[in-house]
Amino acid sequence: MVLDNIERIEAPPKDVFYREYILPQRPVIITNLFESSSLSQMDTLEKVRTGITNIPVQVCPNYIANLLDATSADVPRMMNLGAYLDFLQAQPTSLDICVEYPTPQNLLELLPLNLYQDLSDESDLYSNMFVAGSNNYAHLHYDADQRNVLLFQVFGTKRFILIHPRETHKLDAIDQANLCRTSGFFLENMSEAQKTDFIRYTNAFDVVLRPGETIFMPMMIWHYIEYLEPAMSIAYRLGRNPYNRRLAQLFPAPSVDVQSLALLLMDETVAHSKHTGWLNKLENTSSSSNGSDRDRKAILNYLCLKIRGQYLGFEPIKSMRELTRRQTILEQVSAYS
Ligand SMILES: [Fe+2]
Repeated sequence: MVLDNIERIEAPPKDVFYREYILPQRPVIITNLFESSSLSQMDTLEKVRTGITNIPVQVCPNYIANLLDATSADVPRMMNLGAYLDFLQAQPTSLDICVEYPTPQNLLELLPLNLYQDLSDESDLYSNMFVAGSNNYAHLHYDADQRNVLLFQVFGTKRFILIHPRETHKLDAIDQANLCRTSGFFLENMSEAQKTDFIRYTNAFDVVLRPGETIFMPMMIWHYIEYLEPAMSIAYRLGRNPYNRRLAQLFPAPSVDVQSLALLLMDETVAHSKHTGWLNKLENTSSSSNGSDRDRKAILNYLCLKIRGQYLGFEPIKSMRELTRRQTILEQVSAYS
């Protein structure tokens, strides 16, 4: 059923990786990036359970599931990794998950980035980890921070469905504060046949990541993830260039307009020669705004919509939600001015 349409390669030199995958924002699976690390030896649940039990992790309910059907309070709790894996064995259908938890330093030391250490601004690099049981998932969304991601699969298998931002208009992006960056499509509730149709419609990438493999997820790409069995991953979120960093700082909850603008800044040379004008303007507008936070956001949203139209053209509106979104931006800015 899985299309398995992401290329698998051995780790290329960093300049080749930058030129052929990062710049074109092309997902890829690197089969041997961490093969000499000691963590790559911990490739089964049992090995981790007996070998690295005393790592603290934070566990919380699956965000989307909890939002739609709140049976428990969304309160994170700290526990040891070993205790959490025991919990998953005792309650295999639990949707409690360790998600985006900052990787403890002693665990990260078992997985040095070596070859790609200086591929990006190291001071801006960040690592987080993910552990969950076999029926868990990450709802279709894109991340906020504009970092390219290398995610290493420690044990267990996970299915990744990745969708390029150029397909955003097909994804019914929700535009409200607590669901920003979230698709209105619930792949977690689709049958396999429906998923296959959706994957073809959106020209998605669809793979199963196995222990020892590392997937490159370009920044701002849509991703939906399914845990096929209990699984653990550690992600390196690579340092950004100064332009993406500045844009991300302005928009901690990036709209689909910001998602498009972020891609314009990906190549530092192009960003420097073509896009400093609007980036400066956004920053100046943000810092000189003396209205409420709501007013500031309204004018920034309006500017982003305008800049996106100027550089990328306005796509025809294809959903009611997008029509409403644009109307709201225009109404809010006219109320402000
Ligand atoms: Fe994510």
